[in-house]
Amino acid sequence: MANVAVIGSQWGDEGKGKIVDWLSERADVVVRFQGGHNAGHTLVIGNKTYKLSLLPSGVVRGKLSVIGNGVVVDPWALLKEIEILRGQGVAVTPDVLAVAENAALILPLHSKLDLLREEARGAGKIGTTGRGIGPAYEDKAARRAIRLCDLLDPDALDGKVQNLLQHHNALLRGLGAEEVNAAELLAQLRGVAPKVAPFVKTVWQLLDAARKRSDRILFEGAQGSMLDVDHGTYPFVTSSNTVAGQAATGSGIGVGAVGYVLGITKAYTTRVGSGPFPSELHDQIGQTLGERGHEFGTVTGRKRRCGWFDAALVRQSAKVGGINGIALTKLDVLDGFEELKICIGYDINGQHFDYLPSAAHLQAAAKPVYETVEGWSESTRGARSWAQLPATAIKYIRRIEELIEVPVALLSTSPERDDTILVTDPFTD
Ligand code: IMP
Repeated sequence: MANVAVIGSQWGDEGKGKIVDWLSERADVVVRFQGGHNAGHTLVIGNKTYKLSLLPSGVVRGKLSVIGNGVVVDPWALLKEIEILRGQGVAVTPDVLAVAENAALILPLHSKLDLLREEARGAGKIGTTGRGIGPAYEDKAARRAIRLCDLLDPDALDGKVQNLLQHHNALLRGLGAEEVNAAELLAQLRGVAPKVAPFVKTVWQLLDAARKRSDRILFEGAQGSMLDVDHGTYPFVTSSNTVAGQAATGSGIGVGAVGYVLGITKAYTTRVGSGPFPSELHDQIGQTLGERGHEFGTVTGRKRRCGWFDAALVRQSAKVGGINGIALTKLDVLDGFEELKICIGYDINGQHFDYLPSAAHLQAAAKPVYETVEGWSESTRGARSWAQLPATAIKYIRRIEELIEVPVALLSTSPERDDTILVTDPFTD
């Protein structure tokens, strides 16, 4: 398998940035295939830190970076991110970056609607990033979205804006909010069009050419399997498919090209936003995990909820996502605990489940069933070989592998890229 798809196996924030960067150094092409600028990837290269939301991580290393049709693109956010990177000395040119002409746009009205809806939901809010992701995907599915190719067709744009606003202004009226002025939106779109135009490409052709050259393609997922609109903790999910199957549909390449699926998995569990989280800890241990793991959102700065490792959840993710191996991250955050708990299933109204059922009321009632394992007092931070790990830490990892039924391919022991133990090379396995 020459290509690799990297996906999150929990609720996002598993530490994909470091692993994707590690792999992108050896890739020729890096492709985003879903989500938008709701994602937040932090890359630490040498003494520089790069924060990416929409751009594929490969862009920092000058690799051909592709934003596929499955991504929803806010053109203003795109240009801003390009500017920030250029300010950090990264050359983001049309030779390096390609955005699919058939990708749908996120417009200012989408983020406005996202926030209005969240406000209207009150205590039942999803806790979205407020970036307009959900409303943009709604318009795409409803066939009224404005796509990047539409920006390049000024004559047709007016009619598309009218069509879109017919729907949105009715909605905004219903919510008691100010309507969108068609002429203003049109002017905004005409203003941004020439700036993004150089990056707009026929991505499926680019990827076909890459395949013919036998290039190594890295598909970079955002969020995590439990935030998948079909397989996640619906309705507390994002609005895209986050599983590896989407890498093909969201970029315009055959399923056979996706290759090895690497599931990024944190050694404990975190979640940002609302929704069920059976192994969440509301005590000092949860607090400690959050502090040690610096668990604050990259995009919104929100504090992440923390809890024990949920093996039942990751096993489920591995099955629905077709994960071949995991990259286990942030093991060092567990250093110094006398004992650790692993969630192996759920008690739901007196009945045992070894998976999280789909119904929201059952998910909300799920109580974790734990197995307790011995902790370790030594530091695992920065370990670069198994020999540098305490025996109990290795035991913890082996137990996780057994429970999730997937092997560890990579072990990350600090944010530094070289602090990585390679078991299986995803590019050559
Ligand atoms: P949305 O994607 O902004 O619509 O948010 C929907 C849910 O997905 C919320 O619970 C967000 O907190 C969560 N979410 C979206 N993007 C990320 C991410 O990159 N990491 C973690 N959670 C995310």
